[in-house]
Amino acid sequence: MSQTLPPGSFGLPIVGETLSFLNDPAFADKRQEKYGSIFKSHILGRPSVVMVGPEANRFILSSHMRHFSWRDGWPETFKELLGESLFLQEGEAHQRNRKLLRPAFHGKALEGYLDTMKQITQTYLKKWEARGDFTWFGEMKQLTFEIASILLLGSEPGEMTTRLSQLFGDLSAGLFSLPLRFRWTPYGRALYARDQVLAHIERVVRDRQQHPTQDALGLLVQSRDEEGGSLSLAEIKVQALLMLFAGHETTTSMLTSLVMSLAQHPAVCNRAQAEQDMLAAEGPLNLDQLRRMPYLEQVLKEVERLYPPVAGGFRRVIESFEFNGYQVPKGWQALYRINATHRDRRCYSEAEQFDPDRFSPERAEHKQYEFSLVGFGGGPRICLGLAFAQMEMKLVAAYLLRNYTWELLPHQDLTMTPIPTLRPRSGLKVRLRKR
Ligand code: HEM
Repeated sequence: MSQTLPPGSFGLPIVGETLSFLNDPAFADKRQEKYGSIFKSHILGRPSVVMVGPEANRFILSSHMRHFSWRDGWPETFKELLGESLFLQEGEAHQRNRKLLRPAFHGKALEGYLDTMKQITQTYLKKWEARGDFTWFGEMKQLTFEIASILLLGSEPGEMTTRLSQLFGDLSAGLFSLPLRFRWTPYGRALYARDQVLAHIERVVRDRQQHPTQDALGLLVQSRDEEGGSLSLAEIKVQALLMLFAGHETTTSMLTSLVMSLAQHPAVCNRAQAEQDMLAAEGPLNLDQLRRMPYLEQVLKEVERLYPPVAGGFRRVIESFEFNGYQVPKGWQALYRINATHRDRRCYSEAEQFDPDRFSPERAEHKQYEFSLVGFGGGPRICLGLAFAQMEMKLVAAYLLRNYTWELLPHQDLTMTPIPTLRPRSGLKVRLRKR
């Protein structure tokens, strides 16, 4: 086995390179340019290795998973706020829970969510139409939160959803804060918010136990594995909380990038609109139509490639390994880079260009290398909400394309900023009109 550590620098004693990592958006790009597709650093208190490209993704996400811990890759604040949920589980516990959760995010269950998604989306479209000029990111966030909280947490539209949204804002703000537990600190407020949301979920679960329903919580209550085992109340509570966290900010980010890209590329928008007009001629939007939107799917893939809401993933190395001739010791932290893989010139021609046709059946650039399109992760732990998110994004996009046109307002800063989730700095100021 090689004894050579990857090239790179550990930076200063104790802090390592954490400050540059947190403050310089080009931190990893610069080092990748200097050292190549595997390099070492010292970030967030741990010696770290950053690995880029489809081969690295396959290694971490699939072929050499046993060398990595998901649980110990996340900061302590995550563990306390998000509890023993799927993100943090490993091995058999993870497999069992993933199996029990899966039915709520696939097949029949998704079909059952369609009407609610449609109703909520239409309410927002009317509101945006009445406004004309508005900032889209915040609006998308409300929309995706409402869909997720009603379908996943059994919330009701109106006051309850608004209250949950506020609590959730506090919870999210605490995830990357200093773990000071006083009531007035961000972390203290996040803990309080978590308890309130969990208490809400508990009330709904108890109700679903008496009166089964077809929303996600109702399905989780009824879910059984092969041995007849089910999720306990405590398990359902933390898993539902995680779903809301994992589900709505990511979808908000990608929807915002989608409408921005469509406004910036009129020829693409026209083709997507023509596809929708053909389908609309058959009748109102339904499940069958959602499955027949190949061009919109290409556009969504291109948005996923150029604007992945999640930039990468952390893992803890629990068994030393060798990659590309370098030794990575046990105890290090490993980071795989989604955004950099998506701009890898070996995989994608003119990688900086927005070009949905790269995903056409003839070109299918993402099929040249496995694990080259990983906006939803990959391997056995690929995003559980992938189908849910895709359905939601297609539905919102289809309604918009069929009924509206929109343009970006001048004098705004469209620089993409990654924190807390990827978005244009201005929030995307637009003017929307009925077609
Ligand atoms: C555009 C929307 C979304 C994006 C871009 C996205 C992205 C991702 C990514 C990159 C991962 C893997 C993270 C890693 O490897 O460290 C992941 C995992 C996960 N996502 Fe999503 N996600 C989205 C929507 C959703 C939704 C709607 C839900 C639930 C309702 C969800 C639930 C999950 C869960 C539970 C996992 C962990 C799976 C496991 O470890 O087994 N996501 N997602």
